[in-house]
Amino acid sequence: MQRLIIKGGKQLSGELTVQGAKNSALPILAGCVLAGSQVKLRGIPELSDVYAACRILASLGVKTAFVDGTVTADPTGISSIHVPEKLMRQMRSSIVFLGAVLGKTGACRLSFPGGCELGPRPIDMHLRALRQMGVKITEKYGELICECPHGIKGAVINLPFPSVGATENIMLCAALADGETVICNAAREPEIEDLAEFLRCCGARIIGGSSGTVRIKGVKELHGCEYTVMPDRICAATFMAAAAATGGEIVLKGARAQDLGAVTDVFRQAGCLVSDSADRIYLNAKKPLRAVRDIKTLPYPGFPTDAQAPVMAMLCKARGTSVITETIFSSRFRHVDELARMGADIKTEGRTAVVTGVRELYGTGVVAPDLRGGAALVCAALAAQGESTVTNICLIDRGYEKIEKTLALLGADIRRENC
Ligand code: EPU
Repeated sequence: MQRLIIKGGKQLSGELTVQGAKNSALPILAGCVLAGSQVKLRGIPELSDVYAACRILASLGVKTAFVDGTVTADPTGISSIHVPEKLMRQMRSSIVFLGAVLGKTGACRLSFPGGCELGPRPIDMHLRALRQMGVKITEKYGELICECPHGIKGAVINLPFPSVGATENIMLCAALADGETVICNAAREPEIEDLAEFLRCCGARIIGGSSGTVRIKGVKELHGCEYTVMPDRICAATFMAAAAATGGEIVLKGARAQDLGAVTDVFRQAGCLVSDSADRIYLNAKKPLRAVRDIKTLPYPGFPTDAQAPVMAMLCKARGTSVITETIFSSRFRHVDELARMGADIKTEGRTAVVTGVRELYGTGVVAPDLRGGAALVCAALAAQGESTVTNICLIDRGYEKIEKTLALLGADIRRENC
């Protein structure tokens, strides 16, 4: 077990290069199963969830190596259609292996996935869509047994909600299917287009990865490719929140402003100066922060639920009252009680949090409740007076590559130690 010790009160300043996107890397790693030859993926962040995905690939018989941010995956020796329960439980996005393994082999056996405690995370939309594509799914002893007696068939699928994971699973399953699949009300998150682009590089025929309607014409086979995953927009948002909370000034190299419109709007409303060029975002938060009246998490292009907690931490010291509504997950305010321990004034009612800015936050011991909630506590600790200890940081390590090194580059007083 490890913890972070943070001495707050230093203004963050300087440049950092944004890591590759976790939520892009994970479905793309699953997509390696579909390729007919070796895949080389660059920009892969060193995260516990990425290692978990590599272990799943290995368990399926995909030879995988992960060196210096590059994963090489050779799927030519796939020998299993079974993802062991222990591996499935390690992360929520293990479920995208379902579409990939089914697409490649026509069969798959796995259990329900694990993941952060953000509220119930059903997979009903994934399963309904796969059934529409001719997959027979039975549940036995907590395992899903999936077969395609007549092969996988393209279908028109109307998602009741633009689920990111369901869209990815359908795309992966459809790439080698017989005929065309159309996903209506598909997720439009930039990671969807990144997965589409990776699959195109492998020879897939996909139109409309960012349009809300994705069309996939099944092909007979896919080949390997070399691909670089997109930069992580949520890490970019988190480091912007950390810099703003401390009244700092940073440059995020590699960040793509076009993926972050709803986020940069909020920083501007809070009084930050934000500008961008082709491959970087600049943020200056030298002026005192102002509250933001109305932030509502929504599917892309709305404000991302994954940035809600870090932005809430930033607003704890903003002048005035901010109102944040979480519409995507039912239990994504678990950082609120921990922020209150640091002196924040936050009242929640159902899915709404009312944040009244305080003059100071004070360092204390806090526990990361989940990945983004943990990152929020780090942002608050950087802005607080005195020393904070953040424990349960294995959850933060799921999404942020060596977070203490990145923040130290910006001048933060932060260290990791064993507890
Ligand atoms: N939902 C259902 N049924 C389904 C699928 C989803 O009811 O079959 C519900 C979920 O319970 C949730 C909502 O729909 O309330 C959104 O779920 P979605 O499927 O869109 O999310 P996901 O694919 O499980 C991905 C990211 C999350 C991110 C969400 C929303 C990955 C690996 N995870 O999850 O990232 O919050 O999209 O943008 O891509 C994170 O990185 O911290 C994280 C949790």
